[in-house]
Amino acid sequence: MPITQPLLITGATGTLGRAFAKVCHIRGLHAVVLDRAALDIADATSVRAALDLHQPWAVVNAAGYVRVDDAETDQERCYRENTTGPRLLAEACAAQRLQLLTFSSDLVFEGSHHAPYQEDAVAAPLNVYGRSKLLAEQAVLACLPTALVVRTSAFFSAWDEHNFVHHALAAARRGELFEAADDLLISPTYVPDLVNTSLDLLLDGAHGLWHLANQGTYTWAELARLALRLAGLDEAGVVPRPAASFGWAAERPRYSVLGSAHGAILPSVESGLRRHLEDERLLQAESETAILVE
Ligand SMILES: NC(=O)c1ccc[n+]([C@@H]2O[C@H](COP(=O)([O-])OP(=O)(O)OC[C@H]3O[C@@H](n4cnc5c(N)ncnc54)[C@H](OP(=O)(O)O)[C@@H]3O)[C@@H](O)[C@H]2O)c1
Repeated sequence: MPITQPLLITGATGTLGRAFAKVCHIRGLHAVVLDRAALDIADATSVRAALDLHQPWAVVNAAGYVRVDDAETDQERCYRENTTGPRLLAEACAAQRLQLLTFSSDLVFEGSHHAPYQEDAVAAPLNVYGRSKLLAEQAVLACLPTALVVRTSAFFSAWDEHNFVHHALAAARRGELFEAADDLLISPTYVPDLVNTSLDLLLDGAHGLWHLANQGTYTWAELARLALRLAGLDEAGVVPRPAASFGWAAERPRYSVLGSAHGAILPSVESGLRRHLEDERLLQAESETAILVE
């Protein structure tokens, strides 16, 4: 791999795209990170132009449509961003013999399991978002069998505010109650672990379907309680509720815990939460230093 060639990362404005940009910077990996204006993944001309311009050695697709409930009534847009986009990227990468890393979801599963879903488990999505991700997996691997397709779930990170753990902690710090589903079992995923491990796999030439999530099985309410406990906050502020009582438009699997035939790849959820809290402290200290300097 000539070092002059960058990694091309899509989704510059999103949680995952920004995390990839940050981790590549920390690891000294040459990367160009493009927003929708610079690369619309669902537009073949835009995809070709970006690959011609940047001549990457691999593409990381961190773009997608993640509003699971909106997707039920916004199907066209969901399929455009989640299925057409990855398929066009895979076709372009196949034509230019490039590696591709793209992301799928635990919501491809229907939830009848009682033990973690491994990569070869039968997928049968319950909602539009899940169907759009499953179709993408199939389209990508059909035209580019060397693609790396990572199924992951329930992001948390202190690097932005768009995640459940951040909201749970913020509510507790304001002294507010925080309602969370106590009957859906998930695999929470600490974004920096996901990004570092995905990059390692890409650099190692891994391909096919991989499940990457931190170790442990939690309901959303249990995850919120653990986050509060580790932060020294009163976990009684978490109000457990059945998922059905939230009135979500999209049906969700009762159980979507991800396991992997490759073993326990990521650390525990508790380890991720501890580092989330440490990152919060560092970011807070940095912003206070910046204010003092001003
Ligand atoms: N968040 C989770 O808990 C979670 C769990 C499992 C899997 N995933 C997967 O992880 C990936 C990233 O999720 P995320 O949470 O980082 O999402 P996000 O924060 O909503 O960011 C999505 C990004 O995709 C971009 N985008 C959408 N359509 C595009 C297009 N046609 N061309 C170029 N860019 C486009 C958006 O750009 P604009 O700002 O222009 O809209 C935005 O930068 C997705 O594939 C998602 O399915 C996420």
